[in-house]
Amino acid sequence: MKDGRIELEPIQPRHAKEMFEVLSPQEIYEFIPDTPPKSVAALTERYQKLSLEKSPDGYQIWKNWVIRNIGADRLIGYIQATIDHKIKEADIVYVLHPASWGQGFAEEACRLMIADLQQNFQLKLLWVKLDSQNIRSVQLMKRLGFQKRTHLIKSETIRGELRDEITMARLIER
Ligand SMILES: CC(C)(COP(=O)(O)OP(=O)(O)OC[C@H]1O[C@@H](n2cnc3c(N)ncnc32)[C@H](O)[C@@H]1OP(=O)(O)O)[C@@H](O)C(=O)NCCC(=O)NCCS
Repeated sequence: MKDGRIELEPIQPRHAKEMFEVLSPQEIYEFIPDTPPKSVAALTERYQKLSLEKSPDGYQIWKNWVIRNIGADRLIGYIQATIDHKIKEADIVYVLHPASWGQGFAEEACRLMIADLQQNFQLKLLWVKLDSQNIRSVQLMKRLGFQKRTHLIKSETIRGELRDEITMARLIER
């Protein structure tokens, strides 16, 4: 799916080579527990699993897209929704290469994904889990109408440091 300056393509193993470079910068991981991919092979294997679009137990639907900057014709990140269809909720994650921050690409990608989720799943709520100090991400979620729901003090460990974790949520209008 496409809108404005970006296109979202369902994640496939063939994206791993280009995404390995996109996901390598350390700045990406300042506020998230992930680490850069270890190798193109490891990322290819991960994308093989994700491209099945469901968890092994079948309870969750996994929607993952790479984000393409159409003008530059290159991948700039990924966006993900993990859908629990029993409770009609999804949690989202988004990660962009630092060279693409500060230009509104993440906001465009989120809007496009949310529109797709609204159209294709009968969801009631979207939510996101964040480090409370991840100001860029908090600002992005506020612009998209998400509100703070929980704030847990020193509840997660990121690279050996205890950090506050917040969740932000948005009801889906029908
Ligand atoms: C979180 C993250 C995606 C936010 O990216 P971002 O680029 O700040 O978010 P947006 O796409 O909303 O862009 C906002 C900025 O673009 C600017 N902008 C908005 N629309 C624009 C447009 N059309 N043209 C140019 N600039 C624009 C805004 O003014 C804002 O600028 P500012 O950063 O100077 O305030 C990014 O920091 C990231 O990938 N971080 C690492 C991973 C992570 O922490 N993910 C969150 C865990 S779920």
